[in-house]
Amino acid sequence: EKVPVKVFSDRDEGSAFVAREIASLIKEKNKLNKTTVLGLATGSSPLLLYKELIRIHKEEGLSFKNVISFNLDEYYPMDHEDVNSYHRFMQENFFSHVDILPENVHIPDGILSREQIEGYCRDYDNKIKSLGGLDIQILGIGRSGHIGFNEPGSQAGDETRLVHLDEVTIEDAARDFGGKENVPRSAITMGVKSIMQAERVYLMAWGQGKAEVVKAAVEGPVTAELPASFLQNHPDALFVVDPAAGAQL
Ligand code: GLP
Repeated sequence: EKVPVKVFSDRDEGSAFVAREIASLIKEKNKLNKTTVLGLATGSSPLLLYKELIRIHKEEGLSFKNVISFNLDEYYPMDHEDVNSYHRFMQENFFSHVDILPENVHIPDGILSREQIEGYCRDYDNKIKSLGGLDIQILGIGRSGHIGFNEPGSQAGDETRLVHLDEVTIEDAARDFGGKENVPRSAITMGVKSIMQAERVYLMAWGQGKAEVVKAAVEGPVTAELPASFLQNHPDALFVVDPAAGAQL
């Protein structure tokens, strides 16, 4: 294995582990009155992580007031209120249940005009940089090998930008959108560069559908054809998987 992998008995255990890691960093930083900068992901993979963080907030009083978050991506174009919007996903599955401050939440914006996108993306990266980078980045992995929406062909130095979605990604999203033809062809995604500059990275993958891409990312060559493989060059990345997703390792 070229990236460390931890296989947990199931996704609850794996998610609870990542939640613990995040919670202890936030606690530590809160004590020092410092902010914690989190890179957050959408999709089904981080759902139980958010559930667990909400539980820790409610039962153990962990505060997110000093947390600043940056989400990885958003479809383009995409209204904030749309059922498939990542804005809505984050509100419903996490933000509305904890005490994070709305002004500390950043999610790529799906309602910009084309002309606004470039400047917006530069600002997004500059904000992350000005905060000293991401303390922890949470990732899922797409069957195309994407992280965020950095599809095959993405380079290690790529920054936040507008991208075209891969055919495999469009197929996987078709269910949520009620047919392939309804899936947006584009997205705004944080680049591989910001992800790679995060202090620590946790990539979560569950189920047999991810086994093949996990193997390729962990054991295969580092290649733009499989952007998750760039994590082999990260000094503190960990793949958190269940037995099914780790089955081919
Ligand atoms: C989407 C997201 C990715 C996510 C991937 C996997 O395309 N943009 O960030 O990792 O899907 O989704 P899931 O976690 O539902 O398998």
